[in-house]
This record gives sequence, structure tokens and C-alpha cells, in this order.
Amino acid sequence: MAVTRTFSIIKPDATRRNLTGAVTAMLEGAGLRVVASKRIQMTRAMAEGFYAVHRERPFFNDLVAFMISGPVVVQVLEGEDAVARNRAIMGATNPANADEGTIRKVHAESIEANSVHGSDSDENAAIEIAYFFAQTEITG
Ligand code: TYD
Repeated sequence: MAVTRTFSIIKPDATRRNLTGAVTAMLEGAGLRVVASKRIQMTRAMAEGFYAVHRERPFFNDLVAFMISGPVVVQVLEGEDAVARNRAIMGATNPANADEGTIRKVHAESIEANSVHGSDSDENAAIEIAYFFAQTEITG
């Protein structure tokens, strides 16, 4: 299995509850290495651009409002099969459906305030990493 990268966001519900370290520990425990990380306050334009694929969905406006309701921690994660590895430790979108021991099962508050984002493909990981990070901000 190849070592690849994925993109992660620790969402405002988790930063608000001081869970940045707890979530990161779960990512690291799943075999992912944090090779870039920064805490930022997203603007509305940044959040709308990031979730542009969901523009027509009924939850879009609430999702954008939630994502700018407080700081987030954006991260680049590296590991064997990083996208799938991260999706596995994140758990299902709706915490009610998430497996025991996953980040969303343990920490998420709701389907919207679900603590973490993770890229769903290698292609989207590359796009999302470039959306938030310069190459010089990512170390091995
Ligand atoms: P999605 O890409 O379907 O899920 P995931 O984050 O697991 O890849 O949806 C993106 C985000 O949109 C999701 O993390 C939370 C929000 N969302 C809602 O608020 N309500 C919904 O019904 C869905 C499907 C998603």
C-alpha cells in the first residue's frame, strides 16, 4: 500500500470543546502523521468555495454558517492509503451511524457538527490541500 496524503479539518464544534489534541491523537493512533497543521478562522467565501460541490444541497447555508462559527484546524495527513485510513477513523457522516471508537462516534454532536472533515478521494485530497496550504508549509 502506497504512502499518500489526505486533507483533514477539525471543525468548530471540536475546537470549541478543546478537542484538537484528542482528535489529533485519534488520527495519529490510526497511523496518520500530521505533516502540516494550522488553526484558522475561515471566511464565508473560503467555506463556500470549499463546499462548492454541495451548493445546491438543502443543508449548504447552515453548513457554511457552522464552518465559520469558530476556528478550525486544517491539516495534511500522511500515511499508507491515507484517504481510506482517515475515512475509517472518522466514522460515518451522521454520528448516529458511526462505528464505535471512531472520531464522530466519540466526539460528534450531530450530522452537521460532526467534528471532522476528511477528503473522499486522492484527487480531492490534492485539490483540498492546495486550497489551504502552500507547498512550503508541508513537511515530511
Ligand atoms: P458529505 O460530503 O456527505 O459527508 P462527509 O463529511 O462524511 O464526507 O457532507 C459534507 C458535510 O455536510 C458533512 O460532514 C456535514 C454536512 N451535512 C449536513 O449538515 N447535513 C447532511 O444531511 C449531510 C449529508 C451533510
